[in-house]
Amino acid sequence: MHHIVPSGIDGLDRLLGGGFPKGSLIVIAGKPGTGKTILSAQFLYHGCIDYNECGAYVSFAEDKEQFYKNMMSFGFDFERLEKEGKFFFFDMITVKETGISTILESIISKFTELGVKRLVIDSFSAMAQAYKKPHDMRIVLHTILGKIVRSMGCTTFLIVEIPHGKSEIGLNVEEFVADGIIILKRSKIENKPLRILEILKMRGSPTPETRALFTLKDGFKVFLPFTYKTTERKNRFKPQPDTEGYFSTGSPDLDKMLGNGYPRGSTVLIEIDKRISVLQHHLICMTTARNFMSQGRGVIKILLIGTDVDAMNKYAITGGLTIDELNDLMRICVKYYSEPNPEPYVVTLSGKSLMEVYRNCNDIGQELRSKTKQPILWVTDVDALINIYGERKTLWFLRMCIARTKNMKDLNMVLLRQGYPKVAEILGSLAHVHLKITRKHGTVLIYGIKPRTNVHVLEMDVSEGYPMPKLTPVI
Ligand SMILES: Nc1ncnc2c1ncn2[C@@H]1O[C@H](COP(=O)(O)OP(=O)(O)O)[C@@H](O)[C@H]1O
Ligand SMILES: [Mg+2]
Repeated sequence: MHHIVPSGIDGLDRLLGGGFPKGSLIVIAGKPGTGKTILSAQFLYHGCIDYNECGAYVSFAEDKEQFYKNMMSFGFDFERLEKEGKFFFFDMITVKETGISTILESIISKFTELGVKRLVIDSFSAMAQAYKKPHDMRIVLHTILGKIVRSMGCTTFLIVEIPHGKSEIGLNVEEFVADGIIILKRSKIENKPLRILEILKMRGSPTPETRALFTLKDGFKVFLPFTYKTTERKNRFKPQPDTEGYFSTGSPDLDKMLGNGYPRGSTVLIEIDKRISVLQHHLICMTTARNFMSQGRGVIKILLIGTDVDAMNKYAITGGLTIDELNDLMRICVKYYSEPNPEPYVVTLSGKSLMEVYRNCNDIGQELRSKTKQPILWVTDVDALINIYGERKTLWFLRMCIARTKNMKDLNMVLLRQGYPKVAEILGSLAHVHLKITRKHGTVLIYGIKPRTNVHVLEMDVSEGYPMPKLTPVI
């Protein structure tokens, strides 16, 4: 088996099955601004710091000062590495055609002297432009490939710039000789920026065509498909404090994404893609419910079919809430319930019409409010209501809930599965906060329509001893 070199990029090594084949030539292609330089710098920096592999950057694009300064904003201190003799920056901008062989000799001697194991050439495109005679460029390329990459076992990134307006990289020399090709792309979801990494080819890799989202937030990080995590130790959820005029969502990350949390008295519409699982959206919705209950506040969920009841209960329990607390503070209103002896938090609504259901819920709310003397969180499953009562009546019901929430300074979360565009449009205009949860390349995404936010990747974090949402903006 070939020796594998970890890339040092968060997430990428798992995607690659460990890393790059040692001594391989990897083409990194993309349009300007897609993150090629940041990816390459991180590969070199972590190679040095984490794997003790010396690195070199051959630059036809930016000069040393600019590069060092830009990379310091990610915490990559290349100046220090250079002083310690672990890194070398070759500025090829000023050299150009004059004395190619001299500069190549000095590069090769430097490589032998330092024992360079990682090399980045930024970029093949700029290099091709720098040499007017294609013959000279071929000499450079062959020297680099033959002497440096192959015989010195140096893992090399060859950056290829894709000009604006061009969609594909043309099939050039560099792609035929490459052991791997990675393309960095920009994309959009509802006009919000996304970044996508595509592995087109990778020698020795079982899954050649892979796509994944990535971000440049605090460095280059590749997102793997959403994974469930189980909690080893079980701790009690620590309530997140509210701020003036707002309820905390229960998640510091979500509060930060929204700027503050959910306004008091507001209705929050959460549109959920069909491919999102119950646990995935519970990470957002139930975290708020747990935050309410752990502060002695009431939570009412309308309206459920029997099986979902256990999922809610489970999520609350993993946050350390006891069954007694649930029976005290939570009311799950169901239409039908098959279990013979439900816990007291399960309430079967006997009313036939939605008007009766509304009155019923109001009574339950009154009871919780006089007991807790605190605001209440209402969570409404719109799909279930539409299924039983139809769109028109459901919208009437929701308008009543929105008005009551405003008057009582409660919080009203309205969950809507994809598939009811008209209802979504109306609720979108009525709601004070409008969030969407969807999926792309296996990762779960959340973003705000109201307030407008960047796309954030949702992951599950159990480091506190209970499930919490972890949100990372895509920038
Ligand atoms: N400190 C930073 N944090 C996050 N993103 C940054 C930072 N500095 C630059 N960027 C973003 O990185 C992108 C440029 O990355 P770069 O690797 O230079 O692209 P390329 O080499 O493909 O042209 C730009 O979109 C810019 O917005
Ligand atoms: Mg660049």
